[in-house]
Amino acid sequence: MKKLLIKGGKKLHGNVHIAGAKNATLPLMVAAILTDEKLTLTNVPHVADISTMANLLANLGVEIQLDGADKDGGNHGRVMILDAKEISNPVAPYDLVCKMRASILILGPLLARFGRAKVSLPGGCAIGTRPVDLHLKAMEKLGAKIELVSGYVEASVDGRLKGAEVNFEKVSVGATQSTLMAASLAEGETILNNAACEPEIIDLAKCLNAMGAKITGAGTSQIKIQGVEKLHAARHKIVADRIEAGTYAIAAGITGGCVKLVGVEMWLFGGFKGELEKAGLQLTQVSENEIEVKRVSQEIHSVSISTHPFPGFPTDMQAQFMSLMTMSDGIATIEETIFENRFMHVMELVRMGANIESHGNIAIVKGVKKLTGAEVMATDLRASVSMVLAALVADGETKINRLYHLERGYERLAEKLIACGADIKILY
Ligand code: UD1
Repeated sequence: MKKLLIKGGKKLHGNVHIAGAKNATLPLMVAAILTDEKLTLTNVPHVADISTMANLLANLGVEIQLDGADKDGGNHGRVMILDAKEISNPVAPYDLVCKMRASILILGPLLARFGRAKVSLPGGCAIGTRPVDLHLKAMEKLGAKIELVSGYVEASVDGRLKGAEVNFEKVSVGATQSTLMAASLAEGETILNNAACEPEIIDLAKCLNAMGAKITGAGTSQIKIQGVEKLHAARHKIVADRIEAGTYAIAAGITGGCVKLVGVEMWLFGGFKGELEKAGLQLTQVSENEIEVKRVSQEIHSVSISTHPFPGFPTDMQAQFMSLMTMSDGIATIEETIFENRFMHVMELVRMGANIESHGNIAIVKGVKKLTGAEVMATDLRASVSMVLAALVADGETKINRLYHLERGYERLAEKLIACGADIKILY
Protein backbone atom coordinates (compact mmCIF):
# COMPACT_ATOMS: atom_id res chain seq x y z
CA MET A 1 0.00 0.00 0.00
CA LYS A 2 1.23 3.49 -0.85
CA LYS A 3 2.85 5.49 2.00
CA LEU A 4 4.48 8.87 2.43
CA LEU A 5 7.83 9.31 4.10
CA ILE A 6 8.27 12.91 5.21
CA LYS A 7 11.44 14.45 6.65
CA GLY A 8 10.54 17.63 8.51
CA GLY A 9 12.35 20.93 8.70
CA LYS A 10 12.13 22.41 5.22
CA LYS A 11 10.51 25.84 4.85
CA LEU A 12 8.09 25.74 1.93
CA HIS A 13 8.59 28.20 -0.91
CA GLY A 14 6.90 28.13 -4.30
CA ASN A 15 3.65 28.16 -6.23
CA VAL A 16 0.76 25.78 -5.67
CA HIS A 17 -2.03 25.44 -8.23
CA ILE A 18 -5.29 25.04 -6.36
CA ALA A 19 -7.65 22.50 -7.88
CA GLY A 20 -11.39 22.79 -8.41
CA ALA A 21 -13.29 22.10 -5.18
CA LYS A 22 -14.12 18.45 -4.59
CA ASN A 23 -17.12 19.45 -2.49
CA ALA A 24 -18.44 21.61 -5.33
CA THR A 25 -17.75 19.02 -8.03
CA LEU A 26 -19.73 16.18 -6.42
CA PRO A 27 -23.10 18.02 -6.43
CA LEU A 28 -22.33 19.53 -9.84
CA MET A 29 -21.85 16.05 -11.31
CA VAL A 30 -25.18 15.05 -9.77
CA ALA A 31 -26.85 18.12 -11.33
CA ALA A 32 -26.33 16.44 -14.72
CA ILE A 33 -29.23 14.13 -13.82
CA LEU A 34 -31.60 17.09 -14.09
CA THR A 35 -31.31 17.37 -17.87
CA ASP A 36 -31.33 15.14 -20.96
CA GLU A 37 -28.70 17.41 -22.51
CA LYS A 38 -24.95 17.44 -21.86
CA LEU A 39 -23.39 19.15 -18.85
CA THR A 40 -19.74 20.11 -19.29
CA LEU A 41 -17.70 20.77 -16.14
CA THR A 42 -14.20 22.24 -16.28
CA ASN A 43 -11.53 22.55 -13.58
CA VAL A 44 -12.54 19.08 -12.33
CA PRO A 45 -10.08 17.94 -9.64
CA HIS A 46 -8.15 14.71 -9.99
CA VAL A 47 -9.23 13.02 -6.73
CA ALA A 48 -10.67 9.63 -5.84
CA ASP A 49 -14.09 10.86 -4.61
CA ILE A 50 -14.78 12.10 -8.14
CA SER A 51 -14.25 8.58 -9.52
CA THR A 52 -16.55 7.18 -6.82
CA MET A 53 -19.30 9.59 -7.89
CA ALA A 54 -18.63 8.81 -11.56
CA ASN A 55 -19.16 5.10 -10.81
CA LEU A 56 -22.41 5.84 -9.02
CA LEU A 57 -23.71 7.96 -11.92
CA ALA A 58 -22.53 5.46 -14.54
CA ASN A 59 -24.48 2.79 -12.68
CA LEU A 60 -27.63 4.90 -13.19
CA GLY A 61 -26.92 5.08 -16.91
CA VAL A 62 -25.17 8.48 -17.11
CA GLU A 63 -22.49 8.58 -19.82
CA ILE A 64 -19.33 10.31 -18.66
CA GLN A 65 -16.41 11.47 -20.73
CA LEU A 66 -13.16 12.87 -19.34
CA ASP A 67 -11.15 15.06 -21.65
CA GLY A 68 -7.84 15.68 -19.91
CA ALA A 69 -6.59 19.10 -18.94
CA ASP A 70 -8.29 22.23 -20.20
CA LYS A 71 -5.62 24.85 -20.71
CA ASP A 72 -8.12 27.67 -21.37
CA GLY A 73 -7.69 30.58 -19.02
CA GLY A 74 -4.88 28.92 -17.07
CA ASN A 75 -7.31 26.29 -15.88
CA HIS A 76 -5.42 23.16 -14.86
CA GLY A 77 -8.24 20.76 -14.08
CA ARG A 78 -9.89 18.24 -16.32
CA VAL A 79 -13.00 18.57 -18.44
CA MET A 80 -15.88 16.21 -17.71
CA ILE A 81 -18.89 15.84 -19.97
CA LEU A 82 -21.90 14.16 -18.40
CA ASP A 83 -24.82 12.96 -20.48
CA ALA A 84 -27.87 11.78 -18.54
CA LYS A 85 -30.13 11.42 -21.60
CA GLU A 86 -31.08 7.90 -20.60
CA ILE A 87 -31.34 6.88 -16.97
CA SER A 88 -31.80 3.15 -17.14
CA ASN A 89 -31.86 2.45 -13.44
CA PRO A 90 -32.83 5.14 -10.83
CA VAL A 91 -31.32 3.07 -8.02
CA ALA A 92 -28.18 3.75 -5.95
CA PRO A 93 -27.10 0.49 -4.31
CA TYR A 94 -25.52 0.21 -0.87
CA ASP A 95 -22.10 -0.92 -2.10
CA LEU A 96 -21.68 2.36 -4.02
CA VAL A 97 -23.45 4.72 -1.56
CA CYS A 98 -21.54 3.49 1.51
CA LYS A 99 -18.26 4.61 -0.07
CA MET A 100 -19.28 8.25 -0.03
CA ARG A 101 -22.02 10.13 1.78
CA ALA A 102 -22.46 12.68 -0.99
CA SER A 103 -24.28 9.88 -2.87
CA ILE A 104 -27.50 10.88 -1.09
CA LEU A 105 -27.49 14.00 -3.30
CA ILE A 106 -28.81 11.98 -6.25
CA LEU A 107 -32.17 11.44 -4.55
CA GLY A 108 -33.63 14.92 -5.25
CA PRO A 109 -32.58 15.19 -8.92
CA LEU A 110 -33.84 11.65 -9.73
CA LEU A 111 -37.18 12.44 -8.10
CA ALA A 112 -37.46 15.79 -9.87
CA ARG A 113 -36.80 14.41 -13.34
CA PHE A 114 -38.16 10.85 -13.19
CA GLY A 115 -40.65 10.96 -10.31
CA ARG A 116 -39.00 8.11 -8.44
CA ALA A 117 -35.72 7.09 -6.86
CA LYS A 118 -34.33 4.36 -4.66
CA VAL A 119 -31.17 5.24 -2.76
CA SER A 120 -29.47 3.25 -0.05
CA LEU A 121 -29.11 5.01 3.30
CA PRO A 122 -25.42 5.87 3.65
CA GLY A 123 -24.94 4.58 7.20
CA GLY A 124 -22.47 6.08 9.67
CA CYS A 125 -19.05 7.35 8.79
CA ALA A 126 -15.76 7.93 10.55
CA ILE A 127 -16.60 11.46 11.70
CA GLY A 128 -20.04 10.84 13.15
CA THR A 129 -23.54 9.55 12.55
CA ARG A 130 -24.29 12.13 9.84
CA PRO A 131 -28.05 11.63 9.38
CA VAL A 132 -29.96 12.47 6.16
CA ASP A 133 -33.29 13.43 7.75
CA LEU A 134 -33.09 17.03 6.51
CA HIS A 135 -32.77 15.85 2.89
CA LEU A 136 -35.79 13.58 3.31
CA LYS A 137 -37.97 16.15 5.10
CA ALA A 138 -37.26 18.69 2.36
CA MET A 139 -38.27 16.21 -0.36
CA GLU A 140 -41.50 15.49 1.55
CA LYS A 141 -42.15 19.23 1.72
CA LEU A 142 -41.86 19.31 -2.09
CA GLY A 143 -44.56 16.63 -2.30
CA ALA A 144 -42.56 13.40 -2.40
CA LYS A 145 -43.66 10.22 -0.69
CA ILE A 146 -40.75 8.74 1.24
CA GLU A 147 -40.52 5.21 2.60
CA LEU A 148 -37.63 3.47 4.30
CA VAL A 149 -37.49 -0.14 3.14
CA SER A 150 -34.67 -2.54 4.03
CA GLY A 151 -32.03 0.17 4.39
CA TYR A 152 -33.17 2.02 1.27
CA VAL A 153 -34.98 5.32 0.82
CA GLU A 154 -37.76 4.78 -1.70
CA ALA A 155 -39.12 8.07 -2.95
CA SER A 156 -41.83 8.84 -5.45
CA VAL A 157 -44.07 11.68 -6.57
CA ASP A 158 -47.17 11.84 -8.75
CA GLY A 159 -46.39 14.26 -11.55
CA ARG A 160 -43.91 17.03 -10.73
CA LEU A 161 -42.55 18.07 -7.34
CA LYS A 162 -44.35 21.14 -6.00
CA GLY A 163 -42.63 24.31 -4.86
CA ALA A 164 -42.88 24.96 -1.09
CA GLU A 165 -41.34 26.89 1.78
CA VAL A 166 -38.64 24.74 3.37
CA ASN A 167 -37.33 25.78 6.79
CA PHE A 168 -34.16 23.86 7.59
CA GLU A 169 -33.93 23.32 11.33
CA LYS A 170 -30.13 23.13 11.01
CA VAL A 171 -27.73 24.58 8.44
CA SER A 172 -26.83 21.70 6.14
CA VAL A 173 -24.70 22.02 3.03
CA GLY A 174 -25.88 18.69 1.63
CA ALA A 175 -29.59 19.23 2.29
CA THR A 176 -29.43 22.74 0.79
CA GLN A 177 -27.81 21.30 -2.34
CA SER A 178 -30.34 18.45 -2.61
CA THR A 179 -33.30 20.78 -2.32
CA LEU A 180 -31.83 23.40 -4.64
CA MET A 181 -31.52 20.79 -7.38
CA ALA A 182 -34.92 19.20 -6.83
CA ALA A 183 -36.74 22.55 -6.60
CA SER A 184 -35.22 23.73 -9.89
CA LEU A 185 -37.57 21.36 -11.74
CA ALA A 186 -40.52 21.68 -9.33
CA GLU A 187 -43.79 23.38 -10.20
CA GLY A 188 -43.92 26.90 -8.74
CA GLU A 189 -41.73 28.73 -6.23
CA THR A 190 -39.61 27.21 -3.48
CA ILE A 191 -38.13 29.25 -0.66
CA LEU A 192 -35.29 27.79 1.39
CA ASN A 193 -34.88 29.36 4.83
CA ASN A 194 -31.77 28.81 6.98
CA ALA A 195 -29.97 27.65 3.84
CA ALA A 196 -26.22 27.01 3.86
CA CYS A 197 -24.15 29.89 2.42
CA GLU A 198 -20.99 27.96 1.43
CA PRO A 199 -19.20 28.92 -1.81
CA GLU A 200 -20.02 25.41 -3.08
CA ILE A 201 -23.73 26.33 -2.84
CA ILE A 202 -23.14 29.51 -4.83
CA ASP A 203 -21.27 27.47 -7.43
CA LEU A 204 -24.10 24.95 -7.74
CA ALA A 205 -26.69 27.73 -8.14
CA LYS A 206 -24.50 29.39 -10.79
CA CYS A 207 -24.32 26.16 -12.78
CA LEU A 208 -28.04 25.43 -12.39
CA ASN A 209 -28.85 28.96 -13.59
CA ALA A 210 -26.58 28.39 -16.61
CA MET A 211 -28.70 25.27 -17.25
CA GLY A 212 -31.85 27.41 -17.24
CA ALA A 213 -32.88 27.34 -13.57
CA LYS A 214 -34.20 30.48 -11.86
CA ILE A 215 -32.40 30.76 -8.52
CA THR A 216 -31.76 33.92 -6.54
CA GLY A 217 -30.18 34.48 -3.13
CA ALA A 218 -27.56 31.69 -3.20
CA GLY A 219 -24.84 32.64 -0.73
CA THR A 220 -27.41 34.05 1.72
CA SER A 221 -29.55 32.14 4.19
CA GLN A 222 -32.69 32.57 2.05
CA ILE A 223 -32.69 31.11 -1.45
CA LYS A 224 -35.63 31.45 -3.86
CA ILE A 225 -36.15 29.05 -6.72
CA GLN A 226 -38.72 29.55 -9.44
CA GLY A 227 -39.22 26.04 -10.81
CA VAL A 228 -38.89 25.43 -14.56
CA GLU A 229 -40.11 22.51 -16.67
CA LYS A 230 -36.81 21.64 -18.27
CA LEU A 231 -33.10 22.34 -17.87
CA HIS A 232 -30.62 22.32 -20.74
CA ALA A 233 -26.96 21.91 -21.65
CA ALA A 234 -24.35 24.16 -20.02
CA ARG A 235 -20.63 24.55 -19.47
CA HIS A 236 -19.42 25.49 -16.00
CA LYS A 237 -16.00 26.09 -14.43
CA ILE A 238 -15.77 24.69 -10.89
CA VAL A 239 -14.85 27.10 -8.10
CA ALA A 240 -11.43 26.69 -6.45
CA ASP A 241 -11.04 24.36 -3.50
CA ARG A 242 -10.93 26.66 -0.45
CA ILE A 243 -9.99 23.75 1.82
CA GLU A 244 -7.04 22.77 -0.34
CA ALA A 245 -6.00 26.45 -0.42
CA GLY A 246 -6.31 26.71 3.37
CA THR A 247 -4.28 23.54 3.83
CA TYR A 248 -1.35 24.93 1.81
CA ALA A 249 -1.67 28.26 3.64
CA ILE A 250 -1.11 26.34 6.87
CA ALA A 251 1.77 24.41 5.27
CA ALA A 252 3.43 27.77 4.58
CA GLY A 253 2.61 29.01 8.09
CA ILE A 254 3.73 25.98 10.06
CA THR A 255 7.08 25.76 8.22
CA GLY A 256 7.65 29.54 8.33
CA GLY A 257 7.79 29.69 4.54
CA CYS A 258 6.02 31.59 1.75
CA VAL A 259 3.69 30.00 -0.78
CA LYS A 260 1.73 31.51 -3.66
CA LEU A 261 -1.71 29.93 -4.06
CA VAL A 262 -2.65 30.09 -7.74
CA GLY A 263 -6.26 29.97 -8.94
CA VAL A 264 -8.01 31.12 -5.78
CA GLU A 265 -9.73 34.29 -4.59
CA MET A 266 -9.67 35.74 -1.09
CA TRP A 267 -13.45 35.67 -0.44
CA LEU A 268 -13.31 31.88 -0.44
CA PHE A 269 -11.43 31.97 2.88
CA GLY A 270 -14.40 33.58 4.68
CA GLY A 271 -13.79 34.20 8.38
CA PHE A 272 -10.96 31.68 8.37
CA LYS A 273 -8.60 34.34 6.93
CA GLY A 274 -8.82 36.32 10.17
CA GLU A 275 -7.86 33.28 12.27
CA LEU A 276 -4.81 32.59 10.10
CA GLU A 277 -3.75 36.22 10.44
CA LYS A 278 -4.12 36.11 14.23
CA ALA A 279 -1.82 33.09 14.21
CA GLY A 280 0.87 35.19 12.50
CA LEU A 281 0.29 34.53 8.80
CA GLN A 282 -0.10 37.21 6.16
CA LEU A 283 -2.42 36.62 3.19
CA THR A 284 -2.06 39.01 0.27
CA GLN A 285 -4.02 38.98 -2.96
CA VAL A 286 -1.15 39.56 -5.41
CA SER A 287 -3.22 39.28 -8.58
CA GLU A 288 -6.83 38.55 -9.50
CA ASN A 289 -6.55 34.87 -8.63
CA GLU A 290 -3.29 34.54 -6.74
CA ILE A 291 -2.78 34.78 -2.99
CA GLU A 292 0.61 34.90 -1.32
CA VAL A 293 0.76 33.39 2.16
CA LYS A 294 3.71 33.82 4.48
CA ARG A 295 4.40 33.75 8.16
CA VAL A 296 5.27 37.21 9.38
CA SER A 297 5.61 36.52 13.12
CA GLN A 298 8.61 34.79 14.67
CA GLU A 299 6.37 32.47 16.71
CA ILE A 300 3.03 30.94 15.75
CA HIS A 301 0.44 32.63 18.00
CA SER A 302 -2.20 30.56 19.77
CA VAL A 303 -5.74 31.21 18.50
CA SER A 304 -8.89 29.55 19.85
CA ILE A 305 -11.51 28.61 17.27
CA SER A 306 -14.92 27.05 17.01
CA THR A 307 -16.17 25.47 13.76
CA HIS A 308 -19.29 26.94 12.13
CA PRO A 309 -21.04 27.02 8.76
CA PHE A 310 -19.60 29.49 6.20
CA PRO A 311 -18.38 32.18 6.67
CA GLY A 312 -17.39 30.74 10.05
CA PHE A 313 -14.36 28.56 10.63
CA PRO A 314 -14.79 25.46 8.38
CA THR A 315 -15.00 22.04 10.00
CA ASP A 316 -12.89 20.83 7.07
CA MET A 317 -9.98 23.03 8.30
CA GLN A 318 -10.21 22.11 11.98
CA ALA A 319 -7.64 19.27 11.93
CA GLN A 320 -5.12 21.28 9.91
CA PHE A 321 -5.48 24.30 12.23
CA MET A 322 -4.94 22.03 15.20
CA SER A 323 -1.60 20.97 13.69
CA LEU A 324 -0.63 24.62 13.41
CA MET A 325 -1.60 25.22 17.04
CA THR A 326 0.55 22.31 18.28
CA MET A 327 3.56 24.57 17.61
CA SER A 328 2.04 27.80 18.96
CA ASP A 329 3.35 30.03 21.72
CA GLY A 330 0.39 29.48 24.07
CA ILE A 331 -2.85 27.57 24.63
CA ALA A 332 -5.59 27.25 22.00
CA THR A 333 -9.06 25.82 22.51
CA ILE A 334 -10.53 24.10 19.48
CA GLU A 335 -14.24 23.39 19.47
CA GLU A 336 -15.90 21.19 16.83
CA THR A 337 -19.58 22.03 16.52
CA ILE A 338 -20.51 20.42 13.17
CA PHE A 339 -19.58 16.76 13.67
CA GLU A 340 -19.50 14.84 16.94
CA ASN A 341 -16.50 12.63 16.29
CA ARG A 342 -13.95 14.67 14.42
CA PHE A 343 -10.88 14.49 16.68
CA MET A 344 -9.27 11.27 15.47
CA HIS A 345 -6.13 13.22 14.61
CA VAL A 346 -5.63 14.19 18.28
CA MET A 347 -4.06 10.91 19.41
CA GLU A 348 -1.85 10.69 16.34
CA LEU A 349 -0.62 14.28 16.85
CA VAL A 350 0.07 13.42 20.51
CA ARG A 351 2.19 10.48 19.28
CA MET A 352 4.23 13.08 17.39
CA GLY A 353 4.85 15.02 20.61
CA ALA A 354 1.91 17.42 20.62
CA ASN A 355 0.32 18.39 23.94
CA ILE A 356 -3.44 18.05 23.40
CA GLU A 357 -6.25 17.07 25.74
CA SER A 358 -9.70 16.48 24.36
CA HIS A 359 -12.97 16.56 26.30
CA GLY A 360 -15.98 15.75 24.13
CA ASN A 361 -16.01 18.20 21.28
CA ILE A 362 -13.33 20.48 22.76
CA ALA A 363 -9.58 20.07 22.41
CA ILE A 364 -7.09 22.08 24.41
CA VAL A 365 -3.82 22.45 22.57
CA LYS A 366 -0.74 23.63 24.49
CA GLY A 367 1.99 24.67 22.09
CA VAL A 368 5.25 22.72 22.21
CA LYS A 369 8.73 23.69 21.00
CA LYS A 370 9.08 20.68 18.72
CA LEU A 371 7.26 17.71 17.23
CA THR A 372 8.99 14.43 16.42
CA GLY A 373 8.44 12.13 13.46
CA ALA A 374 6.52 8.86 13.99
CA GLU A 375 4.64 6.23 12.05
CA VAL A 376 1.04 7.43 11.97
CA MET A 377 -2.24 6.71 10.31
CA ALA A 378 -5.59 8.36 10.19
CA THR A 379 -9.15 7.48 9.53
CA ASP A 380 -10.40 10.39 7.49
CA LEU A 381 -9.32 12.83 4.84
CA ARG A 382 -8.68 16.01 6.83
CA ALA A 383 -7.18 14.14 9.79
CA SER A 384 -4.66 12.55 7.41
CA VAL A 385 -3.58 15.85 5.98
CA SER A 386 -3.15 17.32 9.47
CA MET A 387 -0.46 14.66 10.03
CA VAL A 388 1.27 15.64 6.83
CA LEU A 389 1.36 19.26 8.06
CA ALA A 390 2.78 18.24 11.43
CA ALA A 391 5.34 16.03 9.69
CA LEU A 392 6.60 19.00 7.66
CA VAL A 393 8.01 20.55 10.84
CA ALA A 394 8.68 17.46 12.95
CA ASP A 395 12.22 16.40 13.83
CA GLY A 396 13.11 13.24 11.93
CA GLU A 397 10.94 11.10 9.69
CA THR A 398 7.19 10.56 9.67
CA LYS A 399 5.61 7.67 7.83
CA ILE A 400 2.00 8.30 6.84
CA ASN A 401 -0.02 5.15 6.25
CA ARG A 402 -3.41 4.72 4.57
CA LEU A 403 -2.75 7.18 1.81
CA TYR A 404 -6.10 6.48 0.18
CA HIS A 405 -7.74 8.86 2.64
CA LEU A 406 -5.60 11.70 1.30
CA GLU A 407 -6.22 10.69 -2.28
CA ARG A 408 -9.96 10.98 -1.76
CA GLY A 409 -9.68 14.75 -1.61
CA TYR A 410 -6.17 16.09 -2.34
CA GLU A 411 -4.90 16.21 -5.89
CA ARG A 412 -1.18 15.24 -6.13
CA LEU A 413 -0.57 16.40 -2.55
CA ALA A 414 2.97 15.00 -2.24
CA GLU A 415 4.00 16.35 -5.65
CA LYS A 416 2.69 19.83 -4.88
CA LEU A 417 4.54 19.92 -1.54
CA ILE A 418 7.75 18.54 -3.08
CA ALA A 419 7.58 21.30 -5.71
CA CYS A 420 7.71 23.80 -2.80
CA GLY A 421 10.79 22.16 -1.30
CA ALA A 422 9.33 19.56 1.09
CA ASP A 423 11.38 16.40 1.63
CA ILE A 424 8.84 13.68 0.82
CA LYS A 425 9.23 10.22 -0.65
CA ILE A 426 6.28 8.25 -1.99
CA LEU A 427 6.72 4.58 -1.07
CA TYR A 428 4.88 1.95 -3.14
C1 UD1 B 1 -20.32 19.23 5.92
C2 UD1 B 1 -19.87 20.64 6.13
C3 UD1 B 1 -19.20 21.08 4.86
C4 UD1 B 1 -18.07 20.11 4.55
C5 UD1 B 1 -18.58 18.66 4.46
C6 UD1 B 1 -17.48 17.64 4.30
C7 UD1 B 1 -20.91 22.45 7.39
C8 UD1 B 1 -22.18 23.14 7.71
N1 UD1 B 1 -21.00 21.47 6.49
O1 UD1 B 1 -21.22 19.20 4.82
O2 UD1 B 1 -18.70 22.39 5.01
O3 UD1 B 1 -17.46 20.45 3.35
O4 UD1 B 1 -19.23 18.38 5.66
O5 UD1 B 1 -16.75 17.46 5.47
O6 UD1 B 1 -19.86 22.78 7.87
N2 UD1 B 1 -27.32 16.98 9.47
C9 UD1 B 1 -28.47 16.44 9.96
N3 UD1 B 1 -29.37 15.92 9.07
C10 UD1 B 1 -29.17 15.93 7.73
C11 UD1 B 1 -27.99 16.50 7.23
C12 UD1 B 1 -27.08 17.01 8.14
O7 UD1 B 1 -28.70 16.42 11.17
O8 UD1 B 1 -30.03 15.45 6.98
C13 UD1 B 1 -26.34 17.55 10.42
C14 UD1 B 1 -24.98 16.87 10.32
O9 UD1 B 1 -24.90 15.71 11.11
C15 UD1 B 1 -24.07 17.98 10.79
C16 UD1 B 1 -24.75 19.25 10.26
O10 UD1 B 1 -26.10 18.90 10.04
O11 UD1 B 1 -24.04 18.04 12.18
C17 UD1 B 1 -24.16 19.79 8.97
O12 UD1 B 1 -24.15 18.75 8.04
P1 UD1 B 1 -24.07 19.00 6.47
O13 UD1 B 1 -23.69 20.40 6.18
O14 UD1 B 1 -25.28 18.45 5.81
O15 UD1 B 1 -22.92 18.04 6.08
P2 UD1 B 1 -22.26 17.99 4.71
O16 UD1 B 1 -23.16 18.39 3.61
O17 UD1 B 1 -21.58 16.69 4.65
